[in-house]
Amino acid sequence: MRHLIDITDLSVEEIDELIATAEDIIANPTKYQDVAAHKQLATLFFEPSTRTRLSFESAMLGLGGSVLGFSSAASSSTSKGETVTDTVRTVSCYADIIAMRHPKEGAPFAASQRSQVPIINAGDGGHNHPTQTLTDLLTIHRERGSLSNFTIGFCGDLKFGRTVHSLVNALSRYTGIHFIFISPEELKMPNYINESLQKKGLPYEETESLEDAMPKLDILYMTRVQKERFFNEADYIRLKDTYVLDPDKLQNAKKDLCILHPLPRVNEIAVAVDDDPRARYFEQVRNGKFIRMALIMKLLGLKA
Ligand code: CP
Repeated sequence: MRHLIDITDLSVEEIDELIATAEDIIANPTKYQDVAAHKQLATLFFEPSTRTRLSFESAMLGLGGSVLGFSSAASSSTSKGETVTDTVRTVSCYADIIAMRHPKEGAPFAASQRSQVPIINAGDGGHNHPTQTLTDLLTIHRERGSLSNFTIGFCGDLKFGRTVHSLVNALSRYTGIHFIFISPEELKMPNYINESLQKKGLPYEETESLEDAMPKLDILYMTRVQKERFFNEADYIRLKDTYVLDPDKLQNAKKDLCILHPLPRVNEIAVAVDDDPRARYFEQVRNGKFIRMALIMKLLGLKA
């Protein structure tokens, strides 16, 4: 039985196959509409979500399966003191596959040790978010035609940004990627990520200036400063508006820049940028459903 806890649980070849399947689902949706008939997906979300939970549900419904689950710990028996592993053992009696989000790093891994069915990590604290990474990779592939040979800037909260950690990890397995990490000192990329790039001999730069980095970028990956990860509200207030992407800041950008954001956004991308054809973050949202359809099929061994 396969789980998806970390993006490296999938080989590069498997990621490329998932992207190819997602592309085929986009082109031929009716071919897939009954693939998961009589299968059930449980969504166990111990943290808030809009895109991840609903795209998983939409994905399973789009495959002809059904969904069950809860959207907050408060509405489950977790509020009575039940452990995550007992919750997962219980739900694996009712569902064929589980997508789980939890504020504690490692909780989906712990769950996978006791589950009778595949567990998908739908985000664990500030650690990993592998299905957002698959969404990002599909979007980059659709926008650029390949996952190699570009410069990508990650901007904002790189310390707690689980989407950033997973995506850097994934892209470090492709060729010709140059990374630029744009953040205030307090929200820099964790050392373990930088060290893993150094070990692989991959080039990266760190800067506090989005303006300086902008002309070099093929892809700009904006992120939200995440209030929920701060212990001290004063620090959050001081840092939250460090970067606000607006049309002025895009004047020095490449004409074919691709602007991504895992969303939700707060202030870090002005709404005026949404009309710029380089803004691809709502396309990214759409792609999330199709790559999750491909992933559910893979983990359940389903074919069209
Ligand atoms: N990108 C993402 O994880 O969004 P949600 O928190 O809305 O699921």
